Amino acid sequence: MKDQKIALITGSNRGLGFETAKQLGEQGVTVIVTARSTEAANKAADSLKAQGINAYGVKLEVTNADDRKAVAQYIEDKFGKLDILVNNAGVGPKNREGFGNTSLDTEPEEFEYVFNTNLFSLVSLTNLLLPLIRKSDAGRIVNLSSILGSLTIHSLPDSPIAAMKTLSYDASKAALNIYTNHLAAALADTNIKVNSAHPGWVKTELGTDAAQMEIPDGAKTSVALALLGEDGPTGRFIHLGEELPW
Ligand SMILES: NC(=O)c1ccc[n+]([C@@H]2O[C@H](COP(=O)([O-])OP(=O)(O)OC[C@H]3O[C@@H](n4cnc5c(N)ncnc54)[C@H](OP(=O)(O)O)[C@@H]3O)[C@@H](O)[C@H]2O)c1
Repeated sequence: MKDQKIALITGSNRGLGFETAKQLGEQGVTVIVTARSTEAANKAADSLKAQGINAYGVKLEVTNADDRKAVAQYIEDKFGKLDILVNNAGVGPKNREGFGNTSLDTEPEEFEYVFNTNLFSLVSLTNLLLPLIRKSDAGRIVNLSSILGSLTIHSLPDSPIAAMKTLSYDASKAALNIYTNHLAAALADTNIKVNSAHPGWVKTELGTDAAQMEIPDGAKTSVALALLGEDGPTGRFIHLGEELPW
């Protein structure tokens, strides 16, 4: 059991999270798939089990403190450690079509909604799971960020994301990137690596059908960062093996 890698992927009932769990499972990792309801978590786990993957379904609404505690207790009781945490669950802007510039009309409630899922709950969950990750021989934390959180790329004169300036979402991912930087620094003298992933623009519910990448390719960055070797980077912002500017 000690050599068996255990991964928890948040928001893994669909989209990039489910595919990340599938690809990690195919590489022999035991995956804990989580969803906002027990039914959705079990359905996802059952579908992976049917493909020969060692999967467990657990309810985890990341904004719910009781759920966060319960999943930590579950892992402690069942596995006694956690090797991989993929902080994948995320939301886009509420009640909006597209990702246009919203910097003139974003209300506090919108920031609260997006930051609660994309940052505050993620930090709380990570802190709660850190004692279990410290028990791993090679802990890996992957934070699902976005190129839309890159200040450098937004600032380029010919920025490829010039038309996409959804303040709440972009600010939440920029803040998540700072968390990656700070957490990696805090854990620099451990064997835990912490990185931000940009999956690409991927055809999921969030990415929409207009996106360029298919889901299997979109999950590749998270999977690679989850399985980084000892010589791999920490405190970096990565897309398909290439470093992105913050
Ligand atoms: N797709 C892209 O082009 C793209 C690009 C850059 C970054 N990303 C990032 O990649 C991550 C995954 O995105 P995706 O494209 O796979 O999105 P998605 O298809 O919309 O899936 C989002 C997942 O997160 C879950 N989730 C949302 N809020 C949650 C909460 N409060 N508690 C627990 N689970 C929650 C959803 O659960 P429900 O089914 O219950 O809603 C769903 O499983 C996100 O962090 C996103 O910001 C995506």
